[in-house]
Amino acid sequence: MTTAHHATAIAHPNIALIKYWGKRDVSLNLPGAPSLSLTLDGLHTRTEVTFDETLHEDRIELDGALLPAKKAARLVTFLDRVRQRADLEWHAHVITANDFPTSAGLASSASGFAALALAATTAAGLTYAPAELSVLARLGSGSAARSIFGGWVHMHAGAREDGTDAHAEQIAPVDHWDLRCLVAVCAQGPKEIGSTEAMQHTADTSPYYEPWIADVPQTLKDARDALKARNFTQLANVAEASCLRMHASAMAADPGILYWKGITVEVIHAIRHARRGGLPVFFTIDAGPHIKAFCPAEAEEDVAQLLRSVDGVLDVLHARPGRGARLVEE
Ligand code: DP6
Repeated sequence: MTTAHHATAIAHPNIALIKYWGKRDVSLNLPGAPSLSLTLDGLHTRTEVTFDETLHEDRIELDGALLPAKKAARLVTFLDRVRQRADLEWHAHVITANDFPTSAGLASSASGFAALALAATTAAGLTYAPAELSVLARLGSGSAARSIFGGWVHMHAGAREDGTDAHAEQIAPVDHWDLRCLVAVCAQGPKEIGSTEAMQHTADTSPYYEPWIADVPQTLKDARDALKARNFTQLANVAEASCLRMHASAMAADPGILYWKGITVEVIHAIRHARRGGLPVFFTIDAGPHIKAFCPAEAEEDVAQLLRSVDGVLDVLHARPGRGARLVEE
């Protein structure tokens, strides 16, 4: 329902095939390079925002529990931006829930800030075009800018200092290419270092950071070409290269950042071995130990079986191309 000062939105996580790792401006969350992602269906964040003049502070509930002030800080700062733009002083009651396990290493900040950007602006009486909403979501989390859009998404690094051109754009719709994403859950428990801190540490201390950033525009172009031609082999090569180069830049930091577990490496080998044997599948890995495997729809069951056959894989989640952030009626 979308009545005065109240709105509910849904958004999905996205997985980058050309990775975002590093910022050209930390305070505005401006990426150092472009990225390319697929928004996923089947997993979602639902966020309800009510601005209420009787509240004395923001109340933020995540998965049924009230967030303590420290954990809520990033969201309160985000709500402050929305209040400022809408010239509104009321505090907000935010109820947000994810239907996927946080242990799956799917960036809940991406779907979370995309859903919050749409619900909060609408509840505050603002009407934003998708690109503007993407700029706003980016201020919450860089990858959230991409979850505003469905299907295949290009996040522009932008050149302006104010960040108004650093937003995402849909480059192919949900039904362009029916690839599936299977998440092999490789470990339990929270990651040791979050992506915001880790990418800054990489930028500050890794001798491979500059070469990594310099390389992204070409891999992004290659990925766009592969996507347009629906060339799976080309997309597999460029996506694995982007993932390995991102992780190489992080590993070369001082001290080095290593997100992988032994099982992560086992799954990489299993995927490459199966691909050599003719199974169309490739991997990507974010700031954690889990493997996200991509394959055409017809290979989904074989890939699921392959992932489950590796000793130590705890679970396999299935997703397909999904829609962008949207308002929902209650
Ligand atoms: C490895 O978007 O979580 O998933 O902008 O600091 O919130 P902040 O970082 P975040 O970083 C995502 C990093 C990644 C790669 C990607 O999604 O492109």
